[in-house]
Amino acid sequence: MSNKYIKGLHCIIDDSVKIGSGSEVGNFSILSGDVRVGKNTVIKNYVEIRANGGLITIGDNCVIESKSLIDGPCIFEDGVVIGPDCEIRPGVTVRRSSYLQGRNRIANNCVIESGVTIKYGSILTSNVYVGEDCFIGPNVIMTGDDTSRVQEEAGNRKSTRIGAGTFIGANSIFMPAVHIGSGCIIGACSFIREDTSDKEVWFGNPAKFKKTRNKKDVDS
Ligand SMILES: CC(C)(COP(=O)(O)OP(=O)(O)OC[C@H]1O[C@@H](n2cnc3c(N)ncnc32)[C@H](O)[C@@H]1OP(=O)(O)O)[C@@H](O)C(=O)NCCC(=O)NCCS
Repeated sequence: MSNKYIKGLHCIIDDSVKIGSGSEVGNFSILSGDVRVGKNTVIKNYVEIRANGGLITIGDNCVIESKSLIDGPCIFEDGVVIGPDCEIRPGVTVRRSSYLQGRNRIANNCVIESGVTIKYGSILTSNVYVGEDCFIGPNVIMTGDDTSRVQEEAGNRKSTRIGAGTFIGANSIFMPAVHIGSGCIIGACSFIREDTSDKEVWFGNPAKFKKTRNKKDVDS
């Protein structure tokens, strides 16, 4: 891999780090351990990318905004954008063209499929799976708590799952290990403690089933 990248002032980049051509690393950023950055990727100022626990791969045409912290191992595919002040813990995979707007905390072993948007301030606890093209509004919290009754009822499932194409309104809170179907709408400020089927609309505290989306809704 060519080393023709732009290096900002006062950044610390270990010899083990490989950076593709056309990429940039901003001022005061730290890249340590086994980090591989693709081509034309921009890593802004005060970013910390630490592969102490394993390989971090960042694809081509990605943007990692200022003050974000990434702990390896992690995979970011091509075109991923990580907004400012994000914290990404080990074992996370973010697939192609997904966008985290900023101040997001993505805990260990989460998988975010391609085309997902996660708005400002949302927090995903460990082992959350987010299907393709989901939209997660601002300040959504997906909780994790191994002792919760909900999780026992769910057969001690360990992961929360959001089906592809689901929309989650602002400020919603999910109890641990809930499974949401594909193409659902969860209204703003919902408290979700039950699984849903595909193409359903739920909202409220606690969230209740409201209706099944019709074909017109789902296509639009
Ligand atoms: C759920 C939602 C998609 C609307 O669904 P809808 O089927 O069109 O519902 P309506 O707007 O017709 O409202 C129907 C009733 O439910 C209530 N309602 C709608 N959304 C609600 C919500 N999230 N929580 C509680 N009540 C809600 C309405 O007040 C209305 O009550 P009423 O019958 O007493 O007047 C929408 O209200 C919502 O929550 N959108 C998310 C917005 C958001 O967070 N966007 C993030 C963008 S950054």
